[in-house]
Amino acid sequence: MKALVYQGPGKKALETRPMPAIAAPTDAIVKISKTTICGTDLHILKGDVPTCAPGRILGHEGVGVVHEIGAGVTAFEPGDHVLISCISACGTCEPCRKGMYSHCTTGGWILGNTIDGTQAEYVRIPHANTSLYRIPEGAKEDALVMLSDILPTGFECGVLNGKVQPGCTVAIVGAGPIGLAALLTAQFYSPAQIIMIDMDDNRLETALRFGATSVINSSRQNPKDVVMQLTGGQGVDTAIEAVGVPATFELCEDLVAAGGTIANIGVHGVKVDLHLERLWSHNITITTRLVDTVTTPMLLKTVQAGKVDPLRLITHRFKLDDILQAYETFGHAAQTQALKVLIEAS
Ligand SMILES: NC(=O)c1ccc[n+]([C@@H]2O[C@H](COP(=O)([O-])OP(=O)(O)OC[C@H]3O[C@@H](n4cnc5c(N)ncnc54)[C@H](O)[C@@H]3O)[C@@H](O)[C@H]2O)c1
Ligand SMILES: [Zn+2]
Ligand SMILES: [Zn+2]
Repeated sequence: MKALVYQGPGKKALETRPMPAIAAPTDAIVKISKTTICGTDLHILKGDVPTCAPGRILGHEGVGVVHEIGAGVTAFEPGDHVLISCISACGTCEPCRKGMYSHCTTGGWILGNTIDGTQAEYVRIPHANTSLYRIPEGAKEDALVMLSDILPTGFECGVLNGKVQPGCTVAIVGAGPIGLAALLTAQFYSPAQIIMIDMDDNRLETALRFGATSVINSSRQNPKDVVMQLTGGQGVDTAIEAVGVPATFELCEDLVAAGGTIANIGVHGVKVDLHLERLWSHNITITTRLVDTVTTPMLLKTVQAGKVDPLRLITHRFKLDDILQAYETFGHAAQTQALKVLIEAS
C-alpha cells in the first residue's frame, strides 16, 4: 500500500509499505477513505516530537471502512463506515475510567506517533471497540474528518475547560484550525463576545465569517488595549491560547478578567513565565489538557443536526498520490490560505 513516511527531521516520502496486520484481538484494520494533515505533523517533521521515530507512517485523523477485525472486536464489522479518533483508548484502565482517554495506559495519542498512522491506504487501529465511531447513514464524510482531532480539541481544551457560558466574553489567541474549531464550538453557549486574535488577515477574515464578534491583528494593534476597550476595562472571562508559544500564553495572562479562566490548548516546547506577582489576587483558573475525544459522540450529533459545519474548515483537496503537494500547501498556509487539506486515499 501507499503511505506517507517520516524519514527523520525535514524528510518525508510517499513509500510502498506492506499492509498492516491484526496484532492483538482488539485491533481492527481500516481502509482509509479520507485523511488530513495536522499542525502536529509539521511539528514532527521539524523534529519536535522525539517519540515519533523515523520510518513512522504519519497521520492521526481520518474516516474509512472497517476491512478486518480481531476476534475481540464486538462493536464493528467489516464494511462498517467509521470515524477514527486521534486518541486510542482501551476504555477500562484507570485514566480511561476517569474519561481521560488521552492518558490511556495502553493508548492515548499513539497513531502517527508511536505506531503507524492514517496517511496511508490502510491503518491498524488498536482498541477498536472504543477508538472508532460509527458514521451515521447519509453523513457528510468530509466534514467528519474534522472530528478526529480539531473539533474535539477546540471544544474540550478550549470551550469546556474555559467554562464558556451564555453572555460571557471570550478571546481566542490563534486563528488556525484549532482556534477556529474553538470559535465554532464556543457558539453552542451563546457568549456575548468572541474576540479573535492572530497576525494573519486572511485567517481573521475567516474568523469573522465563522462568527467572531471582533478580530485583532496583533502585528498592527495592541491586543491588550483593544480587548480592554471592548470589555469595559475588565478583560475576558475566557482566554483561549491556541498557538503554543510563550508570547501568546503571556498575552492570555494580560487579557483574562478577574475570576476568569485561561484555557491553554497550544503544544508548548519551551517554558513560559507565569506572572503570579500580578495574578495571585485575580481569582483566575489556568487549565491545560491533551484532547480526550470524549465529546466525539456529542459533536457527531451536532454536525448531523447542522448545528456546526466543520466542512467550512476544508480549503484544499488532494489525492493520496499528491500528498507531498498537500504538505507543501498546508505548510505554507500564509501564502496558500490553507486551513485544512483533505486527502482522498480511496
Ligand atoms: N492540546 C491538544 O490536545 C492539542 C491538540 C491538537 C493541536 N494542539 C496545538 O494547538 C495549537 C494550534 O494548532 P493549529 O493547527 O491551529 O496551529 P496553526 O499553526 O495552524 O495556527 C496557529 C495560528 O497562530 C497564529 N500565531 C502565531 N504566532 C502568533 C502570535 N504571536 N500572536 C497571534 N497569533 C499568532 C498563526 O498566524 C496561526 O494562524 C498548536 O500548538 C497545536 O500543536 C493541541
Ligand atoms: Zn492533530
Ligand atoms: Zn485505557
